[in-house]
Amino acid sequence: METEAQTQYSFRMPVKLVFGVGAGGDVSAEMAELGRRRAFVVTDSSIASSGSAFDKLIKGLGPRLAGVFKEVTQDSGFEIIDKAANMAADAEADCVVSVGGGSVIDTGKGICVALKNGGSIRDHMGVNILAEPQTPHIVLPTTSGTGSEVTNVAVIYDSVEKRKKNLLDHHIYPNTAVLDPEFLVGLPQAVTAATGMDAVTHAIEALHSMMKNPVSDALALQTLGLMNQWLPVAWAEPANIAARGHTLVASNLAGAAFSNAMVGLCHAIAHGLGGVARVPHGLANSIALPHVMRFNLEVSPGLYDQAAKALGLSAGEDVAGWVEGMARRMELPMTLKDAGVAEDSLVEVAEAAMTDGAALYNPRPVFEPDEIMPLLRLIWAGN
Ligand SMILES: [Fe+2]
Repeated sequence: METEAQTQYSFRMPVKLVFGVGAGGDVSAEMAELGRRRAFVVTDSSIASSGSAFDKLIKGLGPRLAGVFKEVTQDSGFEIIDKAANMAADAEADCVVSVGGGSVIDTGKGICVALKNGGSIRDHMGVNILAEPQTPHIVLPTTSGTGSEVTNVAVIYDSVEKRKKNLLDHHIYPNTAVLDPEFLVGLPQAVTAATGMDAVTHAIEALHSMMKNPVSDALALQTLGLMNQWLPVAWAEPANIAARGHTLVASNLAGAAFSNAMVGLCHAIAHGLGGVARVPHGLANSIALPHVMRFNLEVSPGLYDQAAKALGLSAGEDVAGWVEGMARRMELPMTLKDAGVAEDSLVEVAEAAMTDGAALYNPRPVFEPDEIMPLLRLIWAGN
């Protein structure tokens, strides 16, 4: 049977959404609504030099621009956040504007916390320990994957412990998400594919989570329908604004779904793979998801029946095959072996996954690294 939806639940979605082609040029209006005057823009070097949409954003900010930080890397960590927060403080910034994918947005969340509270972001890591609203944060996603513009979590890499760590707090929801499809036009095909599969994973894991509820279900099912129709188009035609817009909205809906329903074992494994073997998050999810779904189906037949209906498939068992079909169609690696992961790193990945909070919400309970080793070997080899 399906995971039973919660009979009592709450649902948070406190982020203002603004959607529109060219909406990134009018961030000043959103700042004014928040009573802010000095924006510290956080991004990475490739977005900063990408031209049109980013240049429009900077031009639109005009005298409200306090500074641009473009040193965010994939899965950036404590050091980068602290450095950026110090620069933002020196520039007397009173809000953060993050322009990028998950790494940039999560870095932006960390900067907001460090800027508000002082000290290192290391001192403020935890679960719901912040006492009040943080530095206002406006987010412009440049991928259709992470959904981080509407979530209360920042995943931050600890380079000392080689682990991804979570900052999870209701006070780190961004204030405003500006969804402008123009920011996605230059996204390379491989990134479109991998980040899109991350959003698909958010939807599937929200649907099978122990924390699922009717509101998250509705958002997750709509995500699957949109991604089924539009993700392959966005991949094949990078400048197709309609496809970019639909996938951007889909990833946003999935973000709102999993921010409330949480994710599951696939994300726990993806976080382990990211920390231990530096596999990009979306790619790790794309490779692991079908195997995790079949692993869950062994104890919960019917788990993906809702998803099958949304995708026009005849049975829940077909959904894992649909996931594989999407990944294959977009030419993503299908195994960890093909993604360059060393087989002897799997034990460490299993250990990391079992310390990750996401595993707690998986419909098939797992506690010990040994319990998922056969699954990890399957994800590595493919069969
Ligand atoms: Fe994710």
